[in-house]
Amino acid sequence: METILVTGGAGFIGSNFVQDCLNVTESRVVNLDKLTYAGNLENLTSVKDHPRHVFVQGDIGDRPLTDKLLGQYKPSAIVNFAAESHVDRSIHGPEEFIQTNIIGTFHLLESVRGYWSELPEQEKERFRFLHVSTDEVYGSLTAEAPAFTETNPYAPNSPYSASKASSDHLVRAYYHTYGIPVLTTNCSNNYGPFQFPEKLIPLIVMNALKGQSLPIYGDGKNIRDWLYVGDHCTAIRAVLAKGSVGEVYNIGGNHEKTNLEIVHTVCDILDELAPDSSGAPYRRLITFVKDRPGHDHRYAIDATKIAGEIGWTPAETFESGIIKTVTWYLENLTWAENIANGSYQNWIAENYEDR
Ligand code: NAD
Ligand code: DAU
Repeated sequence: METILVTGGAGFIGSNFVQDCLNVTESRVVNLDKLTYAGNLENLTSVKDHPRHVFVQGDIGDRPLTDKLLGQYKPSAIVNFAAESHVDRSIHGPEEFIQTNIIGTFHLLESVRGYWSELPEQEKERFRFLHVSTDEVYGSLTAEAPAFTETNPYAPNSPYSASKASSDHLVRAYYHTYGIPVLTTNCSNNYGPFQFPEKLIPLIVMNALKGQSLPIYGDGKNIRDWLYVGDHCTAIRAVLAKGSVGEVYNIGGNHEKTNLEIVHTVCDILDELAPDSSGAPYRRLITFVKDRPGHDHRYAIDATKIAGEIGWTPAETFESGIIKTVTWYLENLTWAENIANGSYQNWIAENYEDR
């Protein structure tokens, strides 16, 4: 049986990926996750007792642990999702981002270097280390600029994106210097089930349902490209299967939206599916608040390379994906409430009180 090691598989995208892999492949999935505030075993309820799923709580920076897991399970691929992922948290406290995203990735790469160098020649060739990264490493675009291609220079603007950029460089260096067969993907904003409600779309859904204000940073005209998480998972599997070693692939949804458009769309869907008892539209709760420092104006992905070389394009439109997503949150209110009852309230106070 083939084994794939997934790191960060109890987070938003990682847990979707683990479920996806167990459903559509025959592989065993070893899932290494530190269970930070963003890691949640409830995301994995559907695969809790799955015979091909092994969950291990631990840190990607813990060399003895990763050495042991690699030796024990002998994976033919690693997909590295583990990271601190929230831009606003990186502004309030960058240290964890440096620790996990840079130093953690470095330790994981060192562990992989030791493991890979001892593999028999055929297995060495087959092995892949796929590093999941972000479009934010390319910096900010003006309204008219062409979308990011894989050859755009790196220009990260937040501690989060700088830490991801740094990890991308390390991954690249381990290919060029040591020959480790790496792949890097740079993806745009994901949305869908199990996204931690610190991020825009689930935050808006949860605040609206509680009749709380819907905070929009600055003028709401910042633009993001949005991709349904299930499409990101199929893209990663496609790159693992068909990507050329050492290459970078941009992944995007081809759905650029302003933040205000996103919030309007979510409000309108909620008006249909879960109308406020007062009968008043949810848009009334929109509140413009102090901007995010260094707020990137626009991200856009040119996904020509992955479409042309690998044949991947997204299956979901934004219109279909966002209805699925809002419906999922409405059907899983206990999941969100369990999060809201924890340390989440401290974060909300820290990030929004002075805005
Ligand atoms: P998330 O914050 O929801 O999940 C991160 C997971 O990593 C959590 O389960 C957490 O417990 C785990 N983790 C954190 N530090 C760890 C450590 N030191 N060792 C082991 N596990 C650790 O993040 P996400 O939104 O699912 O993002 C996953 C990856 O995809 C990240 O690398 C992120 O940079 C990248 N990405 C995210 C998006 C997006 O829109 N969410 C877009 C592009 C790329
Ligand atoms: O582009 C990919 C990136 O997308 C990933 O690498 C990150 O891990 C992921 O968190 C996401 O980063 P963003 O900063 O774009 O996502 P977030 O949901 O935090 O914010 C989306 C936009 O909405 C952004 O322009 C900031 C704005 N925003 C966000 C929050 C939380 C608001 O206006 N109000 C809010 O309360």
